[in-house]
Amino acid sequence: MDAHEIRNSYLAFLQSNGHTVIERAPLVPRGDTSTLFNGSGMQSLLPFLLGAEHPAGKRLTDSQPCVRAQDIDDVGDNRHTTFFEMLGNWSLGDYFKETQIRQFFTFLVDIVGLDPQKIYVTCFIGDAENGIPRDDEAAAIWQTVFAEKGITAEVAEIGSQADGDARGVRPGERIFFYDGGENWWSRGGSLAGTPIGDPCGPDSEVFYDFGPEFQDASFGLAHPASDGGQFMEIGNQVFMQYRRLDDGSFEELARRNVDFGGGLERIAAASIGSDDVFRISLLWPIIAALQNLTGRSYEDETSSMRIIADHLRGATFLAVDGVRPSNKEQGYVMRRLLRRAIRLALSLGLTENFFAEIVPVIADLYADDYPEVAASRDEVIAVLVKEENSFRRTLEGGLLALADYQGQTLTGADVFRLSDTHGFPKELSVEEARRLGIAVADDWQAEFALALEEQRARSRGATRLGAAGLPGGAPGAGA
Ligand code: SER
Repeated sequence: MDAHEIRNSYLAFLQSNGHTVIERAPLVPRGDTSTLFNGSGMQSLLPFLLGAEHPAGKRLTDSQPCVRAQDIDDVGDNRHTTFFEMLGNWSLGDYFKETQIRQFFTFLVDIVGLDPQKIYVTCFIGDAENGIPRDDEAAAIWQTVFAEKGITAEVAEIGSQADGDARGVRPGERIFFYDGGENWWSRGGSLAGTPIGDPCGPDSEVFYDFGPEFQDASFGLAHPASDGGQFMEIGNQVFMQYRRLDDGSFEELARRNVDFGGGLERIAAASIGSDDVFRISLLWPIIAALQNLTGRSYEDETSSMRIIADHLRGATFLAVDGVRPSNKEQGYVMRRLLRRAIRLALSLGLTENFFAEIVPVIADLYADDYPEVAASRDEVIAVLVKEENSFRRTLEGGLLALADYQGQTLTGADVFRLSDTHGFPKELSVEEARRLGIAVADDWQAEFALALEEQRARSRGATRLGAAGLPGGAPGAGA
């Protein structure tokens, strides 16, 4: 199955199990300023997980486009993307562990066609201090569903991720117990980090095994929660049955919920047996177009092409949801994505504008499934192309100025000057200098910060004097 078929058959399957397909949330959360972007399917459902009645009922499903800007520096490897779709289903006080585990396993094995031998799962080990039991119930359900496929799934007690890195997986083991750093879901990322007032609970995560040849040994021995590459998380079933109280303790919610989130791109990668999400049907056409445009191969330029494809896809969806490039908040993240794509394209020899060739490819990948993408296609292309034009001018001016430093060492004060007079973002100056073989002073960051602070102090002084009504504040210190 390709990604499009996986998304549609997931929603159809959940509908056949009594779920209502709800409208996705916009990438910029409505009426919630706690985060810049919607980073999971459950984010807009928090009030319902805490007990409010949802108008669409107790069984809900959707595919939620998400942006995780905090992952921007991880993009370039085989699995991280700033934009992704999360397949979601929820039981609001309706079914619980057994139905959820069977439902997801059936979807993966009987509908998508994954080999159950390659599926590994994790459960919560328990937390004595907070009186939360070990999730033997989930483990027993997993044993039953694996047994129905003729697989004897042994249980292993791991603990922390580091414990697993040292221990690895032993033959026959398929169900792994981890602690509250791994198998507890809260918006704070762990049991200890659960924000006060938030719903939370133990989770059971599902992993796909690509085989031992994919493990990077520098991460230690392979086990599901390792970051080494052999195992990739493809879904997370949260048994949301607690809420954290003011005193830090956990109380049981009146209603037990299920919050399931699955990575569409990752399930699609497992379905084609590739550990590289960029090989799936929603990303590969972008890479193919980049290969055509640059005349270079993905094999040689893997990381740059991944970043360009991811960033332009993310920026396209942001534009669809009404974000426009700017110097603050969501608009700033969007600008960063676009500028980074342009800079990397430069290193692939793309010195001319190219968004007009790539953005339509991206829009067309989503136009059939997301009518809002089809409806805003031309406007989105225009928004991105406009930003490309304006950054291209900045880039050319800055590169010209940078060329003067050939044979010298670029200092923090120089970087500041380039940013102040040419609007040339600081990371760009440094990256481009290195690419051009210009030495960069080790302490450039400290010196840059100092120059920025001096300028702020000057401009504060100017504001106090009210000099000709000039506004205070520092000019754009770069992206
Ligand atoms: N809340 C869980 C997650 O974000 C499942 O939806 O992974």
